[in-house]
Amino acid sequence: MCGIVAYVGRKNSVPIMLEGLKRLEYRGYDSSGLALFDEDNNVKIYKKEGKLIELEKFVSNTNKDLFSTIGISHTRWATHGVVNEANAHPISDPDGTMALVHNGIIENYKDLKQNLLNKGYKFKTDTDTEVLVFLVHYYYQVEKCLTKAVQLALKVVEGTYGIAIIHRDFPGQIISAKKGSTLILAIGDNEFFITSDINATIKHTKRVIYLEDGDMVKINHEGYEIFNSDNLSINPEISEIDWDISAIDKGDFKHYMLKEIFEQPISVGNAFRGRLADELNTVRLGGLSASYSDLRNVKRIQIIGCGTSWHAALTGKYMIESLARIPVEVEYASEYRYRNPIVPDDTLVFVISQSGETADTLAALKEARAKGAKVFGITNVVGSTIARETDGGVYIHAGSEIGVASTKAFTSQVTVLALLAILLGRMRHMSPNDGLIYLEELKLIPEKIEMILAQNEQIREISKSIANCTNALYLGRGIDYPVALEGALKLKEISYIHAEGYPAAEMKHGPIALIDENMPVIALASKDFLYDKLVSNLQEVIARKGRIFAVANEGDELIATIANEVIYIPETLPSLRPLLNVIPLQLIAYHVADLKQLDVDQPRNLAKSVTVE
Ligand code: AGP
Repeated sequence: MCGIVAYVGRKNSVPIMLEGLKRLEYRGYDSSGLALFDEDNNVKIYKKEGKLIELEKFVSNTNKDLFSTIGISHTRWATHGVVNEANAHPISDPDGTMALVHNGIIENYKDLKQNLLNKGYKFKTDTDTEVLVFLVHYYYQVEKCLTKAVQLALKVVEGTYGIAIIHRDFPGQIISAKKGSTLILAIGDNEFFITSDINATIKHTKRVIYLEDGDMVKINHEGYEIFNSDNLSINPEISEIDWDISAIDKGDFKHYMLKEIFEQPISVGNAFRGRLADELNTVRLGGLSASYSDLRNVKRIQIIGCGTSWHAALTGKYMIESLARIPVEVEYASEYRYRNPIVPDDTLVFVISQSGETADTLAALKEARAKGAKVFGITNVVGSTIARETDGGVYIHAGSEIGVASTKAFTSQVTVLALLAILLGRMRHMSPNDGLIYLEELKLIPEKIEMILAQNEQIREISKSIANCTNALYLGRGIDYPVALEGALKLKEISYIHAEGYPAAEMKHGPIALIDENMPVIALASKDFLYDKLVSNLQEVIARKGRIFAVANEGDELIATIANEVIYIPETLPSLRPLLNVIPLQLIAYHVADLKQLDVDQPRNLAKSVTVE
């Protein structure tokens, strides 16, 4: 949700910010803008509706000579106010002396706006952010101190913010502050950056400070100073990033999503590498080791997430219940946080989030904690808010995921949940031999994913007959059910085809009414004890002229006589099946969207990390 890049240094900030915004476009892409100082130290704002390319064109066509060694910039995902140029950030104060960019939501903006209207302020945008700008303006008139004005304004706003401000009276300075929205200070060689994500600055420096809630930072050409919420000057530790720009390059792939799908043999391997304790036929999860006694005594687990992460959580439920026989509840974070959840003693809570920034998941974490639960995180982004707020956890090590549709993060999350299930299983009834079987099979998964990816061209051909549909049904039984949900979500998100995932046997309780010759049914026909029942469900589809696209195991000849198309995948242990079954579904969604010439990496209305409610 919205991305911020700000720069102070010796170079021209304009190309640096535009390139940085490009790397943050996944966070929001409905409009963008930047603000700088002209040679007379006036604040100048340039903004455009539409994707970043519009701002880039505007700068390169009509404003080639823009130069400022200090600037702030923003890419927007609209919350308050429609998508137009006025509502794009930076937002200015009434005198045009200040520009502010904001990521987050001012929840009490209505009341504050009314107060400001009463004071005579005239609003030019429909954003909540303008309220914050006017508040700073108001307090600056009263206090004559910009720092104080920002602090006072931030005291009265409720909600979340990551902000960066420039002001005509301080032409060498950026003020930045955060609460609830990620903000990072990146420290280069005589240059400093503020960013919502290190992707935007990794090209320039690997040294970063993750700002904490309540922190305010002042940067100028000489250096930076950070104040905590008590207004004390602090000196937080500088972290060193251990990856470089090549990790976020698209390489030869047409889209990030395709690149990320093809990275899965490696990313899944990275999720389990160094965590298999072969000598004991179990798993070692360093981030949870201090809590092994809690894991041994746990009576119930709750796993909380949103979207694809929720699907991974549901997959985890099947795995943990099957391998460790511990009851698992899977919760939508957005529901959990408000429904006064029951968290009995001996419950462990896991929050799962690729970005580690999802507002609902973060709030659910806090709610679980308020109920006295120990909360662990399963996250991808190192140093993210959720990773830092939890009592411990496991990184999935999927590497940067840029495509808005999550792919490799899902399989890495599922891999970590499989590890957790094995660990919990071995702490209970799972024999060393069964532990060994799981570890050995896990090691084969990357190779098996490669085998599925090798069928990419065939899957593209199959996708052609789905691309012109308006609806699709995804069916699976048992642990294939969450995968069906995930396949349907992928198709919806990027191809705008309405799709539903169902437990196959539920079809006859309603969705069967939708089936006709235009309805593709994507069926996960895994060879297990429910296979015959699944085949019966598919016969019901055929009887109603539905078209079946099956994902089945190699050697399954029966399915070829039933389905219109079959994608064959290698067999694996039931609990690890989602790691393979999901791959063809990701590829189908990708190819359908690409065949429809849609913007695969930046689908409409979505943003990669949803940092608002
Ligand atoms: C996945 O394709 C989606 N874009 C979305 O559902 C996502 O999984 C969800 O917003 C949760 O994000 P998180 O994992 O970063 O918390």
